[in-house]
Amino acid sequence: MKKLMRFGVSMEKDLLQRFDKWIAEHAWANRSEAIRDLVRQRLVEKEWQDGKKQVCATLTFVYDHHIPQLQEKLTHLQHDFAGVVVGAMHVHLDHHNCLEVLVMKGTAAKISQIADRILGSRGVKHGKLVGSLPAGGI
Ligand code: NI
Repeated sequence: MKKLMRFGVSMEKDLLQRFDKWIAEHAWANRSEAIRDLVRQRLVEKEWQDGKKQVCATLTFVYDHHIPQLQEKLTHLQHDFAGVVVGAMHVHLDHHNCLEVLVMKGTAAKISQIADRILGSRGVKHGKLVGSLPAGGI
């Protein structure tokens, strides 16, 4: 574990009360853990905005596999970006719907491009890209 440094934070009383309420609602262990997570979140967002750094992400999406050519299109897309899409899980949810989770590693710009093409495909009903940094990034 990395060495921890202490620092003081001043904040308005009502803001601190709202922060504590938010910490309790989200089950964070304590204020320090909450502040660390918020800082990491902002830094990850910055890396994504830069677009050039290596990041990792999961893309979760649901689609109707009865839509003509959709499954083939999604598979072709994943093969076209085989160096970025490093893992995939497919779940047959019901008679119509499939859920896929892709694990990706690459530049934020490239990952966003793949996510946009998949989520923008006709028949993809819902999806969400969740970005992170590779282990040790922060
Ligand atoms: Ni399926």
